[in-house]
Amino acid sequence: MSPTELTAERSEASLGRVLIAAAQIAEWVESLGVEICREYAGQTLDLVVVLEGGRKFAADLVRAVRTSVELRVHFVQASSYGRSTVSTETVRLSGDREFQLHGAQVLVVDDIVDSGHTARALLDSLSRQGADSVRLAALLSKPDRRVVDVPVDYVGFEIPDEFVVGYGMDYGGAFRNLPDIHVLDEPR
Ligand code: IMP
Ligand code: MG
Repeated sequence: MSPTELTAERSEASLGRVLIAAAQIAEWVESLGVEICREYAGQTLDLVVVLEGGRKFAADLVRAVRTSVELRVHFVQASSYGRSTVSTETVRLSGDREFQLHGAQVLVVDDIVDSGHTARALLDSLSRQGADSVRLAALLSKPDRRVVDVPVDYVGFEIPDEFVVGYGMDYGGAFRNLPDIHVLDEPR
């Protein structure tokens, strides 16, 4: 794709209002850290972070887990939306078979559960590897968009059916750096 095409596509989408402010996100991530300390006290917890969108959430979460839990952090790449905002049923995972998770307590850390396809594929893969428990933490959930039933054990915010960016989430690679979560204004 040429730089001109990229600019043309991006210009169709513009940054909309703040949906969740950085301070609200920080408050929830802190409380999740406290809850994890309580639930996994004295144990080893394997975090499986879904790239790219879950990276920032995971970085803040790791800092919020302050005591008594030994954390191991792994990264898995899930197929992305590219420049589209429409979900795909075919989920490509890479890196998810390289961890030693037999008998482990696993917590999947993802930015957002939308259709549920990504989370379902990942939870199934990790369970097949013999993990003792596999839970899911998602910063955001869009219940109206769910196609596949997936239990979200820890959810920060349930949001309406709108495409969002910021705090690690992108649109075609843009807007990840923003501290707040914004709605993306674009023709869908
Ligand atoms: P699912 O497989 O449809 O649940 O999609 C999950 C993945 O799609 C998320 O982990 C995100 O990476 C991406 N995604 C879904 N909705 C949004 C959004 O509103 N903004 C940015 N990324 C999104
Ligand atoms: Mg994701």
